[in-house]
Amino acid sequence: MEMKYWKKLSHTEQDERITRALAANVDFTHSVCLGIPASRLDEQVFYSQASFLKDAPLLRTYVANPNHIGCHTFGSSEPFFAGTHELEREVIELLSVDFFKAQPGSCDGYVAAGGTEANIEAAWIYRNYFIQEHNAQHHQVAILCSSDTHYSVAKAGNLLNINVCAVPVNEQDRSISKEAVSATIADAISRDIRFFIVYCNMGTTMFGSIDAPEVYADVLRQHNVHYKMHVDAAFGGFIYPTSAPESVLNFANAEVSSITLDAHKMLQAPYGTGIFLARKGLMEYALTKEASYVHGMDMTISGSRSGANAIAIWMILFSYGPFGWLEKINKLLYRTDWMCAKLDELHVTYYRHPRMNIITIRSGYVPAALAATFGMVPDDHSSEPGWYKIVVMDHVSIDQLHDFAVQLGQSLMLQPELA
Ligand SMILES: Cc1ncc(COP(=O)(O)O)c(C=O)c1O
Repeated sequence: MEMKYWKKLSHTEQDERITRALAANVDFTHSVCLGIPASRLDEQVFYSQASFLKDAPLLRTYVANPNHIGCHTFGSSEPFFAGTHELEREVIELLSVDFFKAQPGSCDGYVAAGGTEANIEAAWIYRNYFIQEHNAQHHQVAILCSSDTHYSVAKAGNLLNINVCAVPVNEQDRSISKEAVSATIADAISRDIRFFIVYCNMGTTMFGSIDAPEVYADVLRQHNVHYKMHVDAAFGGFIYPTSAPESVLNFANAEVSSITLDAHKMLQAPYGTGIFLARKGLMEYALTKEASYVHGMDMTISGSRSGANAIAIWMILFSYGPFGWLEKINKLLYRTDWMCAKLDELHVTYYRHPRMNIITIRSGYVPAALAATFGMVPDDHSSEPGWYKIVVMDHVSIDQLHDFAVQLGQSLMLQPELA
């Protein structure tokens, strides 16, 4: 586990770093700052001298309320919040290099509202790239993804007025085959689609399945069409690089141009901590030239956004360090293994990627009332579900999994044809 930037820092070390960062931001109390349409949080409501803030650098950041509008890994940024922008830059660089094997200094990125925004940012960049560099017309551009892909990708297609071509997955192992990709691409080409934005999943929402990028790349090359590849690691980005260091869904793979992560999933950060990472030279395609009042211009979807979100990600990463995180991930994988062994004993059919913490069980084995009691999530809320999932997060203990296994066993005894 060679890490360039990622290490564990004590609470005191973190506090010192964040205190310095906040001191390098504009101080609304002591300096003159006439032009910004914002301030620290309302003093009447969020009293900035409250004693508990002394030991809580994240809360102090919320009260200081830095704005991280724009992208801080590229060109210049708003000087008012330069101190905390620096910590966001550290987060982007650390994740690009230590999680996703980029060369130092080779990636841009920003903290987005969530995985949805980061996924839309990717499609926005590549659509504009195909239009500007290859004279593509909207109807000639398509998103290419598996049918297990998160719906935010369909949202991106709709917002950006481009096609979405979904490749059906294998029902059992949730994989995409070359034949299925080839058939989908051939159909798209017959509809004059020439430019593809590929979304590879590092952890699908319902199954935690991992896509093989070479399946897409091989077939796209055979068809001699233009493509760019994005990795949706919104769910898996904070587990799979740790549990599967041999993964090829990263920047060491020349096929991969950008990645979505969500710190508000596996990293347990506050909501508003999606992350978009891209190789340098791409963010520019999302530049809004009209954003002239923003220093350094805006290449993001968000506009104004809280700098406290970047600080929360920074703190979690540096609180654990790579070894603390390895232990945490392995604890979750251990619990997942434990549950899978129980399901095997009960002869229940389920899908689980061996390096992921999602178990997706065929709905026929799980009475709806049992699924509701244990807060399982179905694949379809509107009609009869085909699957129910368990996501083994920090709060999902073996005690709870044991209770579920016992009650599932009891219900199966009443339906012996399933067991
Ligand atoms: C794989 C995947 N991508 C994208 C998203 C969207 O993330 P968010 O809800 O943060 O916008 C999710 C959310 O569940 C997801 O699982």
